[in-house]
Amino acid sequence: MPDPYPFEKTVKAQILERFQQQYHTAPAGIAHAPGRVNLIGEHTDYNEGFVLPMAIDRGIWIAFRPRTDRRVRLYSLDFEESMQFSLDALDQKQSWAGYVHGVAWALQTAGQPLTGWDGVVMGNVPIGAGLSSSAALELAVARVFAAVSGLDWQPIEMALLCQRAENVWVGVNCGVMDQLVSALGRAQHALCIDTRSLHTEYVPFPSSARIVVFYSDAPRSLAASAYNQRRAECEEAVRRIQALTSQVRSLRDLTPESLDAFRSYLPETIYRRARHVVTENARVLASVQAMRTGDLESLGRWMLASHRSLRDDYQVSSAALDKLVALAMDAGALGARLTGAGFGGCAIALCRTAHAEQLASEVIAAYNAQTGLHGEAYAVVASDGAGIDE
Ligand code: GLA
Repeated sequence: MPDPYPFEKTVKAQILERFQQQYHTAPAGIAHAPGRVNLIGEHTDYNEGFVLPMAIDRGIWIAFRPRTDRRVRLYSLDFEESMQFSLDALDQKQSWAGYVHGVAWALQTAGQPLTGWDGVVMGNVPIGAGLSSSAALELAVARVFAAVSGLDWQPIEMALLCQRAENVWVGVNCGVMDQLVSALGRAQHALCIDTRSLHTEYVPFPSSARIVVFYSDAPRSLAASAYNQRRAECEEAVRRIQALTSQVRSLRDLTPESLDAFRSYLPETIYRRARHVVTENARVLASVQAMRTGDLESLGRWMLASHRSLRDDYQVSSAALDKLVALAMDAGALGARLTGAGFGGCAIALCRTAHAEQLASEVIAAYNAQTGLHGEAYAVVASDGAGIDE
């Protein structure tokens, strides 16, 4: 049986060794939080819609030991730098340290009494590639704070506090999908989230299928500003529709048909943004059905339809992502799409397990040859959410 977590051992060995060097003792535990791929349901989470992400076997690990005071010292093996601060003097820095301060800020603002700790952090989720390295870091940090401070680990509450850290402290206006799935993921399952009620449902990921991630190696240009612009366009659609009816609180309340009735009242771009969100919600629900019945062909078709909608109506794809999707489909994938916010980052493909390795190498060889970029491919498996290894 192949090891389903082939990277975990090497990451853990490295942080344990570094912890010993840095602090001359063994850690009390290792906290872990996963990155994610989103199978379908893109740009729906800030419209009270549905999403279907899956936590993956790549993430962030933090070896830690509690302190008796309120200082935090943390060494990052990825950045080869250390940081330290007092929980009484948090600071709105940029870079990875900002997430650590931000989580401390969000927990303390929610009234949670925190204790300091020493730690070593390392990850194997590519940074800034659209696989939620930041949500994984936030949840891993929250897990350490909960462990050393004796807090009850409430995954949904913690995910919401980490989202708040990112929104308010780091200044990225993301929805709640990434933090929720990093907190709640489950091995062999995707997680369907109703972002209006926060009701979640685990959907078994068919064992005969695999997800291959393709990293485009193309920068996520304008990601933050374009993301905020799309959010504003969705809000504008809702405002204009609300001027005509009191029945619509968010785009979640519309079906493709009911949206069409408002078409002539909306500027074309705004209509298209809304059409993506409304049709995407329907695709998520159809995909959940397809997964439950093991209908991989239909699931693949919904994924491809999602990509086209993101490319044409929502306009958040890129030439690199379109190329990866086209190459994956040519190479026999059942479906493929960009994953995450778009504007660069990663695409994913759905294929049969036996086909995963060949698909990964064929697509990336063609992509790198045609673009001169250094794309990468890896098959991923659904994994558990944030936890502690004692
Ligand atoms: C980013 C955000 C999520 C979500 C996706 C798009 O990953 O963090 O909240 O909005 O983009 O679906």
